[in-house]
Amino acid sequence: GLPFGGGEVAALDWPALRSAVENCRACALCNSRRHTVFGVGNERAHWMIVGEAPGEQEDLRGEPFVGPAGQLLDAMLAALGLTREAAPAERQVFIANTLKCRPPRNRNPAPEELAQCEPYLQRQLALVQPRVILAMGRFAVQSLLRSTLPIGKLRGQVHRYQGIPLVVTYHPAYLLRNPVDKARAWDDLCLAASLVE
Ligand code: URA
Repeated sequence: GLPFGGGEVAALDWPALRSAVENCRACALCNSRRHTVFGVGNERAHWMIVGEAPGEQEDLRGEPFVGPAGQLLDAMLAALGLTREAAPAERQVFIANTLKCRPPRNRNPAPEELAQCEPYLQRQLALVQPRVILAMGRFAVQSLLRSTLPIGKLRGQVHRYQGIPLVVTYHPAYLLRNPVDKARAWDDLCLAASLVE
């Protein structure tokens, strides 16, 4: 289990949270990971983006969304004037994942892994206190909204996580395989943008 309960993670500041994630051995993914992948971006960001889990490139580099899905994500954010690079909080997003460690061969996160890793995501959200959350893909949605409905049923409307507006959209890795849904994802990003202005 966790080196401390979820209640203790909820009290950690940024440095303590980073180090708790780096040293985490709460589930078996710690045995196969090369790096843990913490969130990156502005700690006061207006936008928080939540993905699924590190893939091969992310596991190698210890950074979220640096592979092909990340390139698509960066392009979509850029079209809205948003970036992960240093910028004021209105423009620099914070990007985090539901899982901090790569599942072997990019298999789906297991329920036990999601449950163990959840306090780290919840704490990052509580520290950033974004004005909008963009939840990409079914595992981010499952963790934040406790819903197992398909993305197609949840996107296009405003949900709430702890009072913060949350918009659901397709995961960029899905969009790479199903480019026909890019127009819907763009609508979702515009909906999210309309909530922070
Ligand atoms: N897919 C994700 O969900 N997160 C990453 O960091 C990379 C790919």
